Amino acid sequence: MNIYEVIAEPDDEGIDRAVDALKGGKLVAFPTETVYGLGADARNGVAVASIYEAKGRPRFNPLIVHVADMKAAQTYGIFSSQASELADAFWPGALTLVVPRREQCGLSELVSAGLGTVALRVPDHPVARNLLKRFQGPIAAPSANPSGRISPTEAEHVAEGLGKSVAVILDGDACPLGLESTIIGFEDDGKAVLLRPGGIARNEIEAVLGVPLKDTDSGDGLKAPGMLASHYAPRARMRLNAGTPREGEMLLAFGSNGPKDVPGLNLSPSGNLKEAAANLFAYLHMLDDTGCGKIAVMPIPREGLGEAINDRLARAAAPRKSRS
Ligand code: TXA
Ligand code: MG
Repeated sequence: MNIYEVIAEPDDEGIDRAVDALKGGKLVAFPTETVYGLGADARNGVAVASIYEAKGRPRFNPLIVHVADMKAAQTYGIFSSQASELADAFWPGALTLVVPRREQCGLSELVSAGLGTVALRVPDHPVARNLLKRFQGPIAAPSANPSGRISPTEAEHVAEGLGKSVAVILDGDACPLGLESTIIGFEDDGKAVLLRPGGIARNEIEAVLGVPLKDTDSGDGLKAPGMLASHYAPRARMRLNAGTPREGEMLLAFGSNGPKDVPGLNLSPSGNLKEAAANLFAYLHMLDDTGCGKIAVMPIPREGLGEAINDRLARAAAPRKSRS
């Protein structure tokens, strides 16, 4: 049974039905000039967790946050002069900029997979733009395909792959570019790095910057996008599948069966994996920031989003050389 609504050539009224769905924490597929996106309110952690659940991503890759304009982008990210130049030149358009994330900016931590950066893009498509304008908020959206499948360039592709998970599909015909956005990150010294080739060519970007673009594999700067998700690691030692916390440990609990009256936080007292995913990165940061030095984590079931949660916890617990 299909429970989603397809709205063809949406006018303001149609867009407002999608806006209502987003406000209600539901998923909305929408066309951009690159590919269709699977959107959720980027400030709503549980809604963002639904994106990962719907795509069946076994890992928490950070997501692109779509905004209406540069002014909105600046409320979430900090733009260097190079980043601003690129935004001026290519927004709205098929360019995503990964910039330092503003503290307390209101975005869910799951959007950035716990990293200190956020990927921002102002899309150039009448439907996407009208959706952002009427929603008046940030929309987190990866390509609207199940994990491992090709990106959708038509509403029908979305319905085939993700019809079970979306509330509304805005049908804006075929995406004109049909290729994902180019992703640019910045090294600590401000140098622009190509993280993913896409709709805007390297030479167009180099023409604006006046210098050659660095590649991800050119030295020990930024890592390829998917890998960056493993970069944030707590300073604290992590002990997984723990029953009771030992002396000096904080407990990251899950469900209602844990030990009572021990210091720590509970990812989801009711044992809801979506809620746990939404809280994961924020709680890891909070426990780490207490300076406790040791975090014990209760077992978390591996079904559904539990796979990505366990993947992330295993990475955080793995021995590591540098702790940046
Ligand atoms: O054209 C596009 O970019 C489409 C449309 C919907 O906007 N979106 C898209 O999203 O392709 P997605 O999730 O399929 O790819 C986003 C890429 C991922 O490889 C992710 O790792 C990277 O962006 N990314 C997101 N945030 C990042 C961050 N903070 N640091 C590094 N890479 C990031
Ligand atoms: Mg994708």
